[in-house]
Amino acid sequence: MRSRFDSEIVRAGLVTSDQRWSGVEFHPAIGSTNDRARELATDTGQPWRIVLTDHQTGGRGRLGRSWQVPDRASIAVSVIVPIADPATAGWVPLLAGLALERAIGEVTHGAGASLHATLKWPNDVLIADDGNRKVSGILCELVHLDGGHGVVVGTGVNVHQTREELPVETATSLELCGARIRREDLVVAYLRHLARLLEPLGSDSDAVRSQALEGGRAAYVAACSTVGAMVRIHLPLGEIAEGCALGVDSSGALVLDTPQGRRTFAAGDVVHVRRHPGGLA
Ligand code: BTN
Repeated sequence: MRSRFDSEIVRAGLVTSDQRWSGVEFHPAIGSTNDRARELATDTGQPWRIVLTDHQTGGRGRLGRSWQVPDRASIAVSVIVPIADPATAGWVPLLAGLALERAIGEVTHGAGASLHATLKWPNDVLIADDGNRKVSGILCELVHLDGGHGVVVGTGVNVHQTREELPVETATSLELCGARIRREDLVVAYLRHLARLLEPLGSDSDAVRSQALEGGRAAYVAACSTVGAMVRIHLPLGEIAEGCALGVDSSGALVLDTPQGRRTFAAGDVVHVRRHPGGLA
């Protein structure tokens, strides 16, 4: 029997005087935590709220897909963060992936498993120890807040699933990779990293935002196994492009060196074909 999620642990770890988070809402079951967070953003106009569930019955994924998980097996969390300039919104999903990659490394290390997580652009977290299978997904949506803009960051992490409980062969769970962790500990570690990385994007100061983005971009590229790889990208309208991933531009879009020349992609599904022989980074 899998244990119930204890939102009090999350509240005690995050709604404190040294953290930005201001409230935690837990639902034993709900359609989509992203939908609930969007509703909260509209009703309150306030950022830094956290919505969690043990059983998400209508989870939504990127590019209009669904995200299905069994009861009490995974993390489903959505949060509202403020951004001062909507032009920086493209960086939020990438930095959220980076926050989760760091948290998985930390929490699995603490549990004696030390998994090696990497990022596939834009924000899939892959576990190198299990054939680079995907352990999480992140869906970001722009919302209006009092006096400005915000982003709902919705994150799903496969924690306890067995192979049979996963929807595709290319997915994995932390437990399948040998890490037996408490979901609550990973949520606390993830949202601490997330607040640290995203808080500067809510600043009124251009200098604070651009300095944070510069640092965030360097850290993201270092953690992203897409950069330097030969990739195939499936675009939302069905086109497929191939090339060597050269890096990410100032908006967070992926830059490929393709046979047709240098091309930039703001969205799409990436497949890693192989590392580029020249090892571009
Ligand atoms: C993906 O397609 O990779 C993104 C999946 C995002 C799933 C999470 S689970 C919590 C939040 N609520 C949703 O409805 N979706 C996101």
